Amino acid sequence: EKELLWQSRFSEPFDREALLFSSSVDVDKALYQEDIKGSIAHVTMLSEEAILPVEEARLIIEGLEEIEQEISSGALVPDWEDEDIHTVIENRLKEKIGPIAGKMHSGRSRNDQVATDTRLYLKRTIDELRSALDALKSLLLEKAETYRHTIIFGYTHLQRAQPISAGHYYLSYFNMFLRDNQRLDDLFKRVDISPLGAAAFAGSTLQLNAQRSMELLDFSTLFENSIDAVSDRDIIIEFISACSIIMMHLSRFCEDLILWSSSEFNYLEISDAFATGSSIMPQKKNADIAELVRGKTGRVYGDLINILTIMKGLPLSYNRDMQEDKPPLFDAAKSTISSVRIFSKMLAHTKLNEERLTKLTAEDLSLSTEIAEYLVRKNLPFRDAHRITGKIVSHAIESATSLPNIPLETYRSFSELFDSDLYDALQPEASVNTKQSHGSTSFSSVDEQIKNARKKLNR
Ligand code: ARG
Repeated sequence: EKELLWQSRFSEPFDREALLFSSSVDVDKALYQEDIKGSIAHVTMLSEEAILPVEEARLIIEGLEEIEQEISSGALVPDWEDEDIHTVIENRLKEKIGPIAGKMHSGRSRNDQVATDTRLYLKRTIDELRSALDALKSLLLEKAETYRHTIIFGYTHLQRAQPISAGHYYLSYFNMFLRDNQRLDDLFKRVDISPLGAAAFAGSTLQLNAQRSMELLDFSTLFENSIDAVSDRDIIIEFISACSIIMMHLSRFCEDLILWSSSEFNYLEISDAFATGSSIMPQKKNADIAELVRGKTGRVYGDLINILTIMKGLPLSYNRDMQEDKPPLFDAAKSTISSVRIFSKMLAHTKLNEERLTKLTAEDLSLSTEIAEYLVRKNLPFRDAHRITGKIVSHAIESATSLPNIPLETYRSFSELFDSDLYDALQPEASVNTKQSHGSTSFSSVDEQIKNARKKLNR
């Protein structure tokens, strides 16, 4: 039986099943590097403040550095019976250097310790996620450049609506992921606050130099209130919210890719390297990677509801419930980072079926807005123009023809205002390029957007 950190006031040993139930080692062992980094900073500060003799601090720090090696090499496997990763490390240190190990915890509680570990982990993880998003954004810019003169359908209600530049489409996602990045930048400032020195929640009688611990750990600011420092998990909630929004964006994008790669649409081809087949239907090519990213979105939303519900109604300050913050945090981080990465790789290996898109957009009724706007340019009120065009569309459907194939005299039977220049407007490319408004789909607007996006990318 191992001795637990808090055992001495108890006369009976902790029930083994209760220990198994409450042990977090299997999850929080992922924090061992942060935990050791935090302990080294704390011990360094203690020795600088003469709370701990320099020689003892040196022993502790060397021991901690060895333990980090032992865990990363697999020589030391964290044991669940140690209750949590903080105890695993302290118990191992005691084996190595004896009772001096116990001085590492002077002026500290596992409450500010775990809050420190979590913030260090979040800083590292936000950086990883930001780099993954940066790579996705440069890819989207590349796609926008490659396909800026390719015309595709824009949809509303999943009905063909108006022709657009494919570059415009990719840039819309660029802007969404740019805001996701900005959300992380903003969140980072609130994560970058050291809670070390708050102790259990009320502070310490020792002359701790929390400012110094903060500097040693590369945090930018220091907590203001020791209760707040150990009691809240709002940064985890904010991080998983940001992950949820990223996943929502990815999931919508995936939905387009899944639809557009089906035989019904056949607008694009996902490369074989990112598709799967069927064990029974030999012809099948499925967009499983996109489906899994869409599926993992639900999982990350679950993580968000998970942590929100854990925190709801907890009395101040620390409660053991809060140990349950790590499974949703780690799951959301892993799911989101891996989704952004694999999605980018898949998208890089996806090609638009340009020939088919060119053919389809040229014949489609989605050019009808051009007819209405043509009449508006001839001074007709838009409502009248819309009504006349609706009749023309219905004529085209009844006679199974396309708008460019309706003869001029037929157009003129709907309105005298039509002239042969109408046919110039009835080209997808003309439709796209006559858009003059800000941020629109015209090639020149798309070029402008690419230029601006590039500046934001290289900020
Ligand atoms: N494993 C715990 C957690 O993650 C560490 C803090 C334990 N503190 C306590 N007062 N029992 O929350």
